[in-house]
Formats: sequence, C-alpha cells, structure tokens
Amino acid sequence: MAVALIVAAGRGERLGSGGPKALVSVAGRPMLEWSVAALREVEAVNAIVVALPPDRLDAAPDGVIAVAGGETRSASVTAALAAAPAGAAAEAVVVHDAARALATPTLFAEALLELERLGVDAVVAAAPVTDTIKQVADDGRTVQRTLDRSQLWAVQTPQVFRRDALTRALAASPDLIAGATDDAWLVEHQGGAVAVLPASAENFKITTPHDLRVAEMLLAERSHR
Ligand code: CTP
Ligand code: MG
Repeated sequence: MAVALIVAAGRGERLGSGGPKALVSVAGRPMLEWSVAALREVEAVNAIVVALPPDRLDAAPDGVIAVAGGETRSASVTAALAAAPAGAAAEAVVVHDAARALATPTLFAEALLELERLGVDAVVAAAPVTDTIKQVADDGRTVQRTLDRSQLWAVQTPQVFRRDALTRALAASPDLIAGATDDAWLVEHQGGAVAVLPASAENFKITTPHDLRVAEMLLAERSHR
C-alpha cells in the first residue's frame, strides 16, 4: 500500500496567471485534478494528500486529504507527509508536483514497483538529457567544459520513497533543505540509494505560458482518445 502527496501550494509566478498555478484550468479541469485522477487509477495508492495554498483549501477535489502548504516546496511536502495517515517505515510514499499534469497512472505504478523490486530508498522519474550541457564559469560567459550527456538525466516527479527515508530527509537542517532542488537529493546526501526510472519528456513541468499551451493540446488529445 502507498500514500501519495501532491504539492499544489505554489504561486505560479512564472506562469503569471494571477492565481495559484495548480488551480489554473487545463483542457477543461483544474491542473491539480489531472494528477488526482491519474493517482486514483493506481491500485496501490490508498490515500491522496494535497498541499494547497492556505486560503484555497476549498479547492481540494472530493476524497483527498487537504492540507495548507508552506512557503517553500519542501515545507509543502513536509506538511503533506504530516497529514498522511500513519504507515509502516517501509511503506511507499509518492511525492508529485501538481504542475506535472501529464503524469500517467502507468508511470506512478511503475515507480512503485521499481522501489520494491530494486530495494532502494527512492525511485525518481527522469528523462535522458537531449541537449548538450556545458558548464559555464562565474562570469556567465566562459565555457569551462562540456558534460558527458550519456550520464545526465533530467529528473521529474513522481519521486517515490520509503517512508522512513523521506521522513529522515525532511528532518535535515533548514540550510540543507533550502539548498536542495528535490527531495531525492536529500536522500542521496544522507547516503541513501536513489534510482532513476526512465520516463517520457512528455511528463514535463508546466512552468511558463508556453508549457501551459503544450499541456493543453496534449491533454485535450488524451481526453478525445
Ligand atoms: N509548490 C508547493 N509549495 C510551494 C512551492 C511550490 O506546493 N511553496 C509546488 C507547486 O504547486 C508545484 C510544485 O511545487 O506543483 C513545483 O513548483 P513550481 O513548478 O516551481 O511551481 P510554483 O512555485 O507554483 O511556480 P513558480 O516557481 O513559477 O512561482
Ligand atoms: Mg516555484
């Protein structure tokens, strides 16, 4: 059995929609509801907790546990985990961004299966990097080196954790948490084993108005299939 945490408490400043991003309509329903619908189809998931902006708890879809998110993404994950029903140390916890509205039930289910099969602390959805990535000096111009692309993966959510590993990661010092770009990094930092699950680039994060237009097209296509 697994519990899923969806973080949806961000402001969506880069999208510039004037309201919380997760509640912006995409192909006929609020962005958040695409992830909730996908997770409802995953048999192993028996509870869904959603972290929302504190003044928008009313926007929680029926049947989910709603909780007020925090000032940072990590604070929202922490609040959602605290509101989750109690579970065993080895229980799986799915952490997912509402902004990744294109995540499929299959992706969630595969991540959960891989956590079990590999016996690791976390499994993160990730896509191989397709651009060539260069490291640039502090002057912002001078190329220092070109990284070996074959070893680079762009990580996404879902990120699936053993509950004890996620709890330990989120108990790290505020400084460490402030510098972490994802929850899995905290697990890595503590010496935990993290594996990637190859995922499609179609599971992108809706960040800008361009992303929203692409998501709108892809999700509209899915609902007509
Ligand atoms: N998030 C959250 N609580 C925060 C910040 C972010 O729950 N304090 C969530 C967002 O709702 C989103 C996910 O974390 O689902 C990824 O964050 P991001 O894409 O950066 O969304 P926003 O923070 O809303 O957007 P922006 O950074 O452009 O303001
Ligand atoms: Mg943000």
